Amino acid sequence: MDSLFINALASQNKARKPVWIMRQAGRFLPEYRRIKEKHSLMEMFSHPELIHEITTLPVEILKTDAAILFSDITILAKAFGRDLSFKDGIGPVISPRIQSKEDILSLKVRPVQDALRFLFQAIKSLKKGLKIPLIGFCGAPFTFASYLIEERHSQELHLTKRWLYQDAKSFLLLLEKITNATLSYLSLQIEAGVHAIQIFDSFAHVLTKPLWKLFCFPFLKRLVGLLKKKQIPVIIFMRGSCLYAEELSHLEPNAISFDWQQPLAELRKRVPYQIALQGNFDPHLLLAPKKTIQKCVKETLQKMHKEAGYIVNLGHGILPETEVDKAKCFIQTVHDYG
Ligand code: CP3
Repeated sequence: MDSLFINALASQNKARKPVWIMRQAGRFLPEYRRIKEKHSLMEMFSHPELIHEITTLPVEILKTDAAILFSDITILAKAFGRDLSFKDGIGPVISPRIQSKEDILSLKVRPVQDALRFLFQAIKSLKKGLKIPLIGFCGAPFTFASYLIEERHSQELHLTKRWLYQDAKSFLLLLEKITNATLSYLSLQIEAGVHAIQIFDSFAHVLTKPLWKLFCFPFLKRLVGLLKKKQIPVIIFMRGSCLYAEELSHLEPNAISFDWQQPLAELRKRVPYQIALQGNFDPHLLLAPKKTIQKCVKETLQKMHKEAGYIVNLGHGILPETEVDKAKCFIQTVHDYG
């Protein structure tokens, strides 16, 4: 597919910069909230027609240059025979949780094809209707493991970290099992028709760097390896990515999504030119007056003007309280800049 987004992922975009927004199909959209009044989140995540409808909402309303599949990184829990529910104010809860080494040893994976059939059906129907690329995604094994282990998922990942310090061997086995399931989950998304994959290692920043090298890097490497073999562009997202520019570059993804702690021009000095940069606007910028949004976006675009590998995005998900008009202004400013 010839598109600004795919060209930028190949670091070969000579035209205007592509733009999309993490969590673009979410609570900040009134249309999304209206659907949520009628359906539970699990219904929204499990029905191909609803997945299709919600995925296309931001494409029509905001005119983004890429669509991201409406799903969640925790949906893969279904393939592990787990129950998944979404609780207001808490987020995803997976049960039963993994609490012992025996739980890991006996962890079985159902064929992902059967467990998540609805998702692959949705991708196939989206592929027929969309004129822009569709981004599929997965949680990175470490981040997904934390959802299987934590009782109430928190920023600290107390139970997960205690486990890996106490029994690294069984934790590595868990990561191995998750990686194998994720490899087939990604292969099936690709077969169904996604054009690119974003890997979310949202909680990897809680680890020390030596532990990150042990518990994140090798598993990310296997996922990136598969995608390279299948010639599907891959973006890696990690909170705290600015501290890991070199390490993430060693994985050789097509792009790295950066949060806002360092300016892109400085990050560019740390990331080789064949790897595109994505990000890294502060989500709070979209709460500012439109004039401020326009000014910040234009300043960044001016600095990144010559970059053939740059995708405009926020450094993390859009805040639920963002006004739709501000999100539209962000996108329109990129489109108008040329
Ligand atoms: O970006 C998109 O628009 C596509 C959809 C998407 C969702 N989750 C939908 C969702 C994506 C890409 C995700 C990924 C995801 N899910 C991540 C990685 C990205 C990140 O933010 O770091 C993580 C950590 C999760 C886990 C998760 N799911 C949490 C923590 C929560 C609750 C809090 C929150 O941010 O909403 C969810 C629920 C969830 N995932 C919703 C949606 C639309 C529910 C929002 C609602 O209450 O309506």
